[in-house]
Amino acid sequence: MCGIVGYIGKRKAYPILIKGLHRLEYRGYDSAGVALINEDGQLNVYKAKGKVAELEAFCAEKDTRGNIGIAHTRWATHGEPNTVNAHPHYSESERLAIIHNGIIENYAVLKAGLQQEGYTFKSETDTEVLVQLIEYTQLNRHVDLKTAVQLALQQVIGAYAIAVLDKDHPDTLIAARKGSPLVVGIGEGEYFLASDATPIVEYTDQVIYIEDEEIVYISMNPNSPPFREGQGVGSLDITTINNVAKTPEIKRLELSLSQLEKGGYPHFMLKEIFEQPRTLTDSMRGRVNVRQDNIALSGFIDNKERFLNAKRIIITACGTSWHAGLIAMYAIEEFAQIPVEVEYSSEFRYRKPVINKDDVVIAISQSGETADTLAAIQLAKSKGAFIFSICNVVGASIPRVSDSGCYTHVGPEIGVASTKAFTAQVVALTMLALCIGREKGTLSEEHYLNIVRELGQIPDKIERVLGQNKRIADFAKTFTYAQNFIYLGRGYNFPVAMEGALKLKEISYIHAEGYPAAEMKHGPIALISQEMPVVVVAPHCGTYEKVVSNIQEIKARKGRVIAIVTEGDKLVSKIADYVIEVPETEECLTPLLTVIPLQLLAYHIAVVKGCDVDQPRNLAKSVTVE
Ligand code: AGP
Repeated sequence: MCGIVGYIGKRKAYPILIKGLHRLEYRGYDSAGVALINEDGQLNVYKAKGKVAELEAFCAEKDTRGNIGIAHTRWATHGEPNTVNAHPHYSESERLAIIHNGIIENYAVLKAGLQQEGYTFKSETDTEVLVQLIEYTQLNRHVDLKTAVQLALQQVIGAYAIAVLDKDHPDTLIAARKGSPLVVGIGEGEYFLASDATPIVEYTDQVIYIEDEEIVYISMNPNSPPFREGQGVGSLDITTINNVAKTPEIKRLELSLSQLEKGGYPHFMLKEIFEQPRTLTDSMRGRVNVRQDNIALSGFIDNKERFLNAKRIIITACGTSWHAGLIAMYAIEEFAQIPVEVEYSSEFRYRKPVINKDDVVIAISQSGETADTLAAIQLAKSKGAFIFSICNVVGASIPRVSDSGCYTHVGPEIGVASTKAFTAQVVALTMLALCIGREKGTLSEEHYLNIVRELGQIPDKIERVLGQNKRIADFAKTFTYAQNFIYLGRGYNFPVAMEGALKLKEISYIHAEGYPAAEMKHGPIALISQEMPVVVVAPHCGTYEKVVSNIQEIKARKGRVIAIVTEGDKLVSKIADYVIEVPETEECLTPLLTVIPLQLLAYHIAVVKGCDVDQPRNLAKSVTVE
């Protein structure tokens, strides 16, 4: 997600801002920019696509004077990653500049209103709409900037952490937040703003965490009352967006820089596992409307006929994304009754597949850069198929080649082992299957409504599963000796078994295989021994009774079973050696809950083994080579 940094005080702002952007690089981004007001009262904005280093190179010969400025790393949500869409954004008059982390959901309505007032826009971003709205409000309501920011934010629906500069007031810095984090650092005669404390911690340990719908006003005007005795020049005030004064609450920073980048978690992977309730909420926002019992997926709505007329859907992906595709096969065939093939991209691209013009090809890729998946859809496109991609990186190669798609919007996934992207892919694919099925009439309205309502419950239900983290960490210790694992599941949870096995393999280096539970009798049961733990995904749905029989067959041969069951399970919990319970839900949504304990089990085993969880040996986050 985006990162924001701001500075006002006694020092040159530029080096502090650039260093702050480097501190925020771990958040993932695709462009960067900085705005400065210099001693001549000029407001200079510099932006560059790509890394912060490219912004620095661009600024090398520029006027970077000034002791007030704001800077931004952009994780694209609206509009391609390029210099036009990069922040900061000027207002129409170029008197104001803004940076923003978040998503303004009603930006299109606000933009249309400003266009009617004659405003024009250079970028595709929601952020530019906000700075124009602030300027429009100030000019038309004849109010100061502080009030204009309040009035503008009262009209905004969505999430924001913003910072605003006004070249006519070079001694003032205004910032606000709702839904996206914002921290203020209090120095001696200087103030810092940032998305989190990492850009601040080296200058001060005195911080104020801004709360939702609060605005902070910092002024270095010598006539302003000092913020604190002995603080030196500079005042700081906080109000709500409705102008209710708030008392700033100063806290002392305890965390180290490294811990701060991980949000206090020991590894990015654990942070991302625990982010899933929020990231799935973000991923469904504006798409799953439980109150209206409806799913609105623009990529489907704009291409309805292609899906309704599809004779076949081919899903192509790699690794974890392929597992998400396998789950989608069950959902699409059950709800939309369209034949689905799930292909490993590396095989699909070379095996001379039969591809027809009325085929729909769905590419799934977190990075949007996996070479085999990109090549697979280029092949399918050359044969006239319709390409729909589900990616997490806006503007990546795969979405750019696709005819349409759906972004998962879970923010950058830093851990090499994919977790939050996987659950978001499953949600996106389930939403697509539901939309097609409802439109085709192959999915009953009652079943559709039950699943939509249940989708709204999933983030809270994942939260409940995450509550078992400590227990899973404890019993994970007993399995670090194992050389091999088998993971079993049936139906929607067969791909979950494969995903759980992959998680363990890639971060703990323990060999593991995922199988359909019934396949045990066709060979793998010969492997059963006390030394090889068997993980069985056995929620109370589908062919549950068959899975119970499979567990009994394993126990009869002295196998040790770790079972993932539905809360209140009476049968499996009596025969398995270890049981992890997940809340009940619709069968097609069980993977969103049953995968969580498997993510945590793999993580804790790897940690006990001392493995490099975030950057496992031999692996890359994005396999951009064949
Ligand atoms: C998943 O934990 C792995 N890191 C890997 O299998 C990954 O899913 C695969 O490389 C596909 O990546 P993509 O989703 O970015 O295309």
